[in-house]
Amino acid sequence: MILFKKAADINNWLLKSKAAGKKIGFIPTMGALHRGHTSLIDASKHAGSISVCSIFVNPAQFNDAKDFDNYPTTIEKDIDALEKAGCDVLFLPSVSEIYPAGTGNAKTYDLGYLETVLEGKYRPGHFQGVCLVVHRLLTIVPADDLYLGQKDYQQCMVIKKLVELEKLITTIHICPTLRETSGLAMSSRNMRLTAEAREQALKIFESLSYLKNNIKPGDLTGLKQTAVNLLTNAGFKVDYVEIATAGDLDIINHWDGNRKLLAVAAAFLGDVRLIDNMLL
Ligand code: PAF
Repeated sequence: MILFKKAADINNWLLKSKAAGKKIGFIPTMGALHRGHTSLIDASKHAGSISVCSIFVNPAQFNDAKDFDNYPTTIEKDIDALEKAGCDVLFLPSVSEIYPAGTGNAKTYDLGYLETVLEGKYRPGHFQGVCLVVHRLLTIVPADDLYLGQKDYQQCMVIKKLVELEKLITTIHICPTLRETSGLAMSSRNMRLTAEAREQALKIFESLSYLKNNIKPGDLTGLKQTAVNLLTNAGFKVDYVEIATAGDLDIINHWDGNRKLLAVAAAFLGDVRLIDNMLL
């Protein structure tokens, strides 16, 4: 695996590879890698691309400074995991390499409705920060294909919108959420949970499964409330448990029995915020 720290160096190297007819598959991450991330590298390798992973904990997307300070970093382990996964290139930039002019006068992206609901509502500014970094990364890494995990469902929609808004040539691939055998969605933030909290965290999967197993056409308010109660009774501070249309994240309280739906949840266990989703 080749490691680059400078934007100009990786960009030159990748442009030469592209000129030689190679495809570039890109997996942007914030590190603290787990099998969910390496499954994205597998998908890129399967497509026969040069697989490029970036590790950059993006300060611009944290609406809570404490969350940024506490974000797990495990660089040595990450490099080892990437080598084992057969990743070809790692981009490990500094903040000044990504934001040479700072973020004070950063561009804003017209994300419309997506920025007003769920993660957009509960983490103001978060998706602007995500767009800022992904846009910048895509100017450095001229990716043909971008691999993202379904666990961040709304983020996937936001990045699709970014690609549309900026008329980028990159194709987005959304790969399934990987789960522990218990059902817990793999997440870098799980590293901050104690063994006991990991048990409790399972309730998120259980409450989404409850929605999946019990949904019927008609009014959904009682069903949603039961799913919220499940989490509250297990000691979570709930931001939301919602049912939305899978195509455009329209929050619904009444189901016609036809529209394809997604259950989504975000809740705190102590100071660790967990999110998950499930197609119904
Ligand atoms: O999902 C993440 O890890 C981040 O939001 C991303 C896409 C790497 C941008 O910083």
